[in-house]
Amino acid sequence: MNVLILGSGGREHAMAWKIAQSDLLTQLFIAPGNEGTDQLGVNIKIQPTDFESVKEVVLEHEIELVVVGPEDPLVKGIHDFFLNDSELKNVAVIGPQKLAAQLEGSKEFAKEFMVRHNIPTAAYKSFTKNSLDEGFHFLETLNPPFVLKADGLAQGKGVLILNDLQEAKDELKEMLANEKFGAASSKVVIEEFLDGIELSCFVLTDGRSYVNFPNAKDYKRIGEGDKGLNTGGMGAVSPVPFADEVFMKKIEEQVIKPTVDGLQKDHIPYKGFIFFGIIKVGDEPKVIEYNCRMGDPESEVVIPRIKSDFLELLIAAGKNELHTKTIEFVNESACTVMLVSGGYPEAYEKGKVIYGLDKVEGSIAFHAGTTNKNNDVVTNGGRVLAMTSFGADFKQALKKSYQNIDKICFDKMNFRKDIGFDL
Ligand code: AMP
Ligand code: GLY
Repeated sequence: MNVLILGSGGREHAMAWKIAQSDLLTQLFIAPGNEGTDQLGVNIKIQPTDFESVKEVVLEHEIELVVVGPEDPLVKGIHDFFLNDSELKNVAVIGPQKLAAQLEGSKEFAKEFMVRHNIPTAAYKSFTKNSLDEGFHFLETLNPPFVLKADGLAQGKGVLILNDLQEAKDELKEMLANEKFGAASSKVVIEEFLDGIELSCFVLTDGRSYVNFPNAKDYKRIGEGDKGLNTGGMGAVSPVPFADEVFMKKIEEQVIKPTVDGLQKDHIPYKGFIFFGIIKVGDEPKVIEYNCRMGDPESEVVIPRIKSDFLELLIAAGKNELHTKTIEFVNESACTVMLVSGGYPEAYEKGKVIYGLDKVEGSIAFHAGTTNKNNDVVTNGGRVLAMTSFGADFKQALKKSYQNIDKICFDKMNFRKDIGFDL
């Protein structure tokens, strides 16, 4: 079968790496891909949100299965576009339709869904420009810290956690009245602050059955000790040591099953990955957020830990046959450490030559923001490479990643030396 992966990050390189190992694969295409995916298949320089160009590629290369990496094309309705097109409607798309992608695309939609299906989450209320005063009053009834969330997609920047009531009121006004995050903050969810430790869980579902993927924990802040600005993610480990069997069972019973059942009850078709952002409060799981895609950099540890044929699972999801499949993981732990461009997550330069990739041994250097210039691999994004390793536990895995990172260099390279520090 010919497969197309949409996206260009470390997540998509990890997916390409795994799919390329499947006997079921004929040819692999990645759009737009990066220098790492170029080694595993054919990169095609189109954007995943340019649906007409995606259609041309699918028809030209007789693609039978499309895996959508990032959320943007899903929230914009790429799956619906395929279903509504007579030439594309039989192509399997892994990634939910527009309605279900609202689980990520609208915080309010997700909260209403969780309340309707009794899925544990923080108490909340949502507000618009017209209910700004009510928002102020609601903030006055809460204890700090105050959690403000832009309803829509805001490139991971739409959540503010503030200690001061006046500051929270000012920010609420900025978001609602002055559109701090554009249309994404025309509605704001204010929710109860939850104190605990976070982890991410993932399933692949066809809307009826699902398979659990390994869990993971990512490190979102740029600075060591989890300080400083939020990033897409600076590293990850899998499995998460504090998520024992009892706790994982609670997640399955209280969160995962009610979510998949809830989608069915609401008649919301869902074919693709569900990413559960969970916080452990005491011994109980609560959902912080849903994403309608795999995580990045979580994919760079989760996917390598899947022993089963990943493409076989995707094909089964496409055919509503996931109930016939089981999934096996490797027992070893995996970790990944992100190498990022100096300045990231704020302004940074691109086009820096990356040295040392040929010296990496015993780790996998997944490419995130890379491209080719005059036969050199050069940086092409904020997050550049994800150094993934296996080990008997996450500490041993990390040791290998850091040893290999020592062999890599590019101008202004930055990375966190403390991944796993809190475990
Ligand atoms: P989200 O985009 O909803 O995942 O939020 C981004 C980050 O903000 C999360 O990963 C948490 O670290 C934090 N966060 C979000 N909601 C809450 C909450 N209710 N209580 C505490 N921290 C939160
Ligand atoms: N690493 C978090 C995310 O993919 O949203």
